[in-house]
Amino acid sequence: MSSGSFVEVPKDLLKEIKRLEELFTVDTAKLKQITDHFVNELEKGLSKEGGTIPMNPTWVMSFPTGYETGTYLALDMGGTNLRVCQITLTEQKSEFDIIQSKYRMPEELKTGVAEDLWEYIAECLLQFIQTHHGDVAKLDKIPLGFTFSYPATQNYIDEGILQRWTKGFDIDGVEGRNVVPMFEKALQERGVPIKLTALINDTTGTLIASAYTDTKMKIGCIFGTGCNAAYMEDCGSIPKLAHLNLPPDTPMAINCEWGAFDNEHKVLPRTPYDESIDTDSPRPGQQAFEKMIAGLYLGEIFRLIMVDLHDNHNVNIFAGQDIGKLRRPYTLDSSFLSAIEDDPFENLSETRELFQNQLGIDPNPSELELIRRAAELIGTRAARLSACGVAAISKKKGYKECHVGADGSVFNKYPHFKKRGAAALREILDWPAKADPNDDDPIEILAAEDGSGVGAALIAALTLERVKKGNMHGILHPENFH
Ligand code: BGC
Repeated sequence: MSSGSFVEVPKDLLKEIKRLEELFTVDTAKLKQITDHFVNELEKGLSKEGGTIPMNPTWVMSFPTGYETGTYLALDMGGTNLRVCQITLTEQKSEFDIIQSKYRMPEELKTGVAEDLWEYIAECLLQFIQTHHGDVAKLDKIPLGFTFSYPATQNYIDEGILQRWTKGFDIDGVEGRNVVPMFEKALQERGVPIKLTALINDTTGTLIASAYTDTKMKIGCIFGTGCNAAYMEDCGSIPKLAHLNLPPDTPMAINCEWGAFDNEHKVLPRTPYDESIDTDSPRPGQQAFEKMIAGLYLGEIFRLIMVDLHDNHNVNIFAGQDIGKLRRPYTLDSSFLSAIEDDPFENLSETRELFQNQLGIDPNPSELELIRRAAELIGTRAARLSACGVAAISKKKGYKECHVGADGSVFNKYPHFKKRGAAALREILDWPAKADPNDDDPIEILAAEDGSGVGAALIAALTLERVKKGNMHGILHPENFH
């Protein structure tokens, strides 16, 4: 325990805490086993037969030099917000100017009809351009990088066939189709002067944006509403692209879509709570790894534990209280767990207030101990499992030393996530103890540059540049690249 003490916790509650500890603790041996399986699955995803992890080639075929220039629009359709940016990559090496607007992604759009989604996005873009450029009728088309952070097959960089929705999205008629024409139709109908030059994943954007300012960057990760990573592969190591006869040493960024790791449930230590989340999700059987790690699910795992300990175990926590609010699925997001883990007081008074204010529940002191421990266990498991993915890519590529750029609400805001992840990476990769606590780790997971803004702009720039030089691989509409 990092706070409080167990002296007053009744025996049956202690037993439950012990049970949760057993369910949620992932020891070093397990981390290593998961990582080894992960390495195999990464390989399988690149093979002709394919595997569970999609390992999507992205047609991002180089790292930036830092000398890219030009003005680009970037559209970020993440899990929570819609963001429109205009990025100017300046003459100054690795520098940029950015203006941006955020729009709320209305909840009903996430499970509504496709047309409404594209219309809403097109409206936001139109508003942005009108505000910053005036009359759209007088404008030349502006190049846009579209960050579409869902698994998509890309035979071309300006194409994205949605494999499946993730992060709770469930919009009919989009899965299995190329989203670019749907998006472009909505733009045309409103006369929005945009040409799409790249559809990108947030992880690829993160990788490229981070490499713009730091040449040691080898992997881009998102630990946010969803969870995923991208890294640079050589075309010669991607058997599923062999038919294209690309030069074997040509780089190709791979969007791993590692959220799908272990959908077969071979190695991940899933608990009954994880199983329940999966069963009740819009896409059961998908995103097994993501559902144990990502921000969308952390609060829900916690909620399920609390409801279970109220209903199904002898302990009957919150006895006699109305837990109606707690019964509502997805009522707690990961910031709720963050607040519990951040509670600085030994008597957990902030946690108590949180429960009173948000849930109308007044936990007693021993229940508060249990609450704190449950949050720690969920947060720690998420951080430790995340490290398996980073370790697996590093092992596969033989990276002994590098930087990993990471972004997302869990990475940036969840207490101790970075520290716990770094500790797990050390265990998995058997690094010796640090001589000086201030020494860097051989592989450091660092806060990334803005991937879905600057990264998208850079990828648009890199693609325009390579087309200019005659590299037409993975370009569907060359006419948009002049
Ligand atoms: C999506 C990925 C994305 C990740 C982080 C996952 O649910 O499938 O494409 O990179 O979330 O946003």
